[in-house]
Amino acid sequence: MLRSPYKLIFRPLEVGRLKLRNRLICGPMFVGYANADGTVSDRMLAHYERRAKGRPAMVITEHMAVNVAGAQFSNMVVLSDRKCLPGLTQLAECIKKHGPVGVAQIYHAGRYAGPWEQYKKARRLAPSATPFPLFGDMEATPQEMTLEEIQETIQAFADAAALVREAGFDGVELHGATGYLLSQFLSPRINKREDAYGGSFDNRMKFPLEVYDAVRKAVGPDFLVGYQYLVKEWVPDGWDFPEAGQFAQRLQKEGVDYFIPQGGTIESWNDPAVRQTLQIETYQVAMIKEFSRGIRGTPVFACGRIYDPALGETVITRGVADVIVISRGMFADPDWVQKSEEGRAADLFHCIPDCYECVQTQKSGATCAAWPYEIKKKGIWG
Ligand SMILES: Cc1cc2nc3c(=O)[nH]c(=O)nc-3n(C[C@H](O)[C@H](O)[C@H](O)COP(=O)(O)O)c2cc1C
Repeated sequence: MLRSPYKLIFRPLEVGRLKLRNRLICGPMFVGYANADGTVSDRMLAHYERRAKGRPAMVITEHMAVNVAGAQFSNMVVLSDRKCLPGLTQLAECIKKHGPVGVAQIYHAGRYAGPWEQYKKARRLAPSATPFPLFGDMEATPQEMTLEEIQETIQAFADAAALVREAGFDGVELHGATGYLLSQFLSPRINKREDAYGGSFDNRMKFPLEVYDAVRKAVGPDFLVGYQYLVKEWVPDGWDFPEAGQFAQRLQKEGVDYFIPQGGTIESWNDPAVRQTLQIETYQVAMIKEFSRGIRGTPVFACGRIYDPALGETVITRGVADVIVISRGMFADPDWVQKSEEGRAADLFHCIPDCYECVQTQKSGATCAAWPYEIKKKGIWG
């Protein structure tokens, strides 16, 4: 076996009460393999087991909706129905038996949620009825959440986190990026409420803090709770530093175990200039560096086109982050970690910039243009 030329990315790290065997994580990627009734499918199990076999330190699942109103697609796991528990338990097992820490990501899409065919009755909920561009020329206007709906949603997050723990995962991750509901409350551009959940910075923080608090209470102090964190909306007058730094410090004080800082939202990805930025290798590193400076003491995981191990090693060497998250890279090649460890990075199948086959195929089950022919034919690298 060839020896790894990298030192830091294969060094273990403690996160919360868990030990990561290296600093390379299989990142959350919604691939749309779940059953149409919101349960875990065999295809999903095969997909995640194959990622776990590739020797990452942690596998973070794709986002799973805390309830029907929070889901974007019909082929995603919906945690509010306990019928998903057997599949969820198998999912945790098939990740953990190969060594990685297993983390399930939970979310509510807010204004980006359905309604789709079978859930036509669901209201498109958001902090305020602020219109937003949907696709191309289309626009949507969500409905302002009532105080009752806010409380129900907080409870849905707590119940979903408890289910994740019951299923046997090691941790839960709150998806507070990509412009989903948790971040919608923070953004003064989107949140126009005049009650206790809108207006001042303290008020805009209230909903995501109450969600975090309810989730922490539901899972207990020893369970890993991570946060996929929106740093910048990347739209004019969007959420940004300094509030983005201050809210992270507040979550840190509350006991979040790690952060994955992110830039951009579904809305900003409509902007050709932002889309171009996303093609650049390590495109988030400057932003992550600034973020990390403000929150010493809690691990920061860096992601965003860190497509080979040498780049990952540099990001850690320069003190930008503690851990590297690889999402599309490990979708393109589940052996990313193993090949890197064995000094075979030249054999990696790489995600192709500006390709987006995975995004375009999500609704029917994502595939990847970088997969070798025989995997493509099967439709899954399972
Ligand atoms: C098809 C697709 C699905 C994604 N699904 C999720 C998701 O479920 N949760 C999440 O936090 N991020 C999701 N992301 C974002 C990735 O996790 C990651 O942050 C982003 O792609 C940049 O990192 P990368 O270059 O390593 O892929 C998704 C990205 C893509 C392309």
